[in-house]
Amino acid sequence: MADEVKQRKIEHVNIALERDVSAPQRANWSDIQFVHQALPEVDLDQVDLTTSFLGHTLRYPIFMSSLTGGHPDVININRNLARAAEHYGLALGVGSQRAAILNPELAASYTITRENAPNAFLIANIGAPQLIQQAGHPPFTLEQVRRAIEMIQANALAVHMNSLQEAAQPEGDRNAVGEAAALKQLVQHIDRPVISKETGAGVSREQALLLRSCGVSAIDIGGAGGSSMSAIEAARSQSRGDARTMNIGQLYRDWGIPTPIAVVEASTARLPLISTGGVRNGLDAARALALGATMVGIGFPFLKAASESYERVCEVIEGIISELKVAMQLGGAANLSQLRATDIVVTGATREWLTLRGFEEDLKAMAQRRWRRIQKSALSSSPSSSS
Ligand SMILES: Cc1cc2nc3c(=O)[nH]c(=O)nc-3n(C[C@H](O)[C@H](O)[C@H](O)COP(=O)(O)O)c2cc1C
Repeated sequence: MADEVKQRKIEHVNIALERDVSAPQRANWSDIQFVHQALPEVDLDQVDLTTSFLGHTLRYPIFMSSLTGGHPDVININRNLARAAEHYGLALGVGSQRAAILNPELAASYTITRENAPNAFLIANIGAPQLIQQAGHPPFTLEQVRRAIEMIQANALAVHMNSLQEAAQPEGDRNAVGEAAALKQLVQHIDRPVISKETGAGVSREQALLLRSCGVSAIDIGGAGGSSMSAIEAARSQSRGDARTMNIGQLYRDWGIPTPIAVVEASTARLPLISTGGVRNGLDAARALALGATMVGIGFPFLKAASESYERVCEVIEGIISELKVAMQLGGAANLSQLRATDIVVTGATREWLTLRGFEEDLKAMAQRRWRRIQKSALSSSPSSSS
């Protein structure tokens, strides 16, 4: 079992780097448009991206998403990511730590992150399927989960939800009964905030409320539109000649709630949200933040850059930050709370979905944030309102 998990970890990385594993829908980011401010009254060089997340102050609202670990060949990737997280003050996740929980000799591929990022906000990672009994293995003990946190002296624990990936995986865990109850139990017994994290199929309004009732501190909505774990598993199945799971992986490559929609749906839970899934530039990031996300999570672009060099990771970060600042200036926002008060117009397939799901009034309010503020202040300063 331990060797199987280790082998899978390197296959995931190699497939993601060698093939196109993106979901065809690309999250429909262009459905979200800012209302341009011709006189924005914001200095581009003074835009403040400071973010507060789970009691910590981060310099930027960017999470380098949970990607890898568990194989000696990925140590360099995690080192490059960690050095950048430390330099820029970003939050960083490690990939699932199951490999090192089963085989402590693999811990170095995870501990390299804390060694290179002594002050960064690090997020440990385990899977929800490992919290319950599966056909092939028992659930993790509390002690094992704590070991994952201690391994990288994590500031928080992400519990990934990946039923789609498991269904498309030749050796995947098939049981999902009892995950919510197990999550609730876990939250009560560990002393770090728990982030529940989808891995590409998104979180709906109702599921976000369920997660809140489990006591999680934040949700990474991990929507559809970016890297598809289903596509990655299809490629693994193909190389093994497993036609059944290969077909499932390909058929469901585009399955899930697109990222911007999941941000709006999950906002109902009123928890800090990370918007991950197909965020590819600073404009996508600005859109996600204006929709209500606390941070954006970015996976593949950082994986690719970190497989090249530390300098390349820095270039990607600098690019995203500069692009994000431009969207903020043109939207008239000097900081992130002002960004969440800018006008955004949601159109196309994103609007259609959200309207049918009962979010029409929310969309109107997003498109008229300034106008409603103007009307409100006009009303409160009119003579008749004071009489
Ligand atoms: C190669 C690879 C491995 C991943 N491994 C994990 C993992 O172990 N745990 C996890 O929570 N998410 C994992 N993810 C999902 C990412 O954290 C992220 O949600 C996903 O890549 C979507 O973001 P993106 O479109 O920016 O790549 C992995 C993604 C990739 C591409």
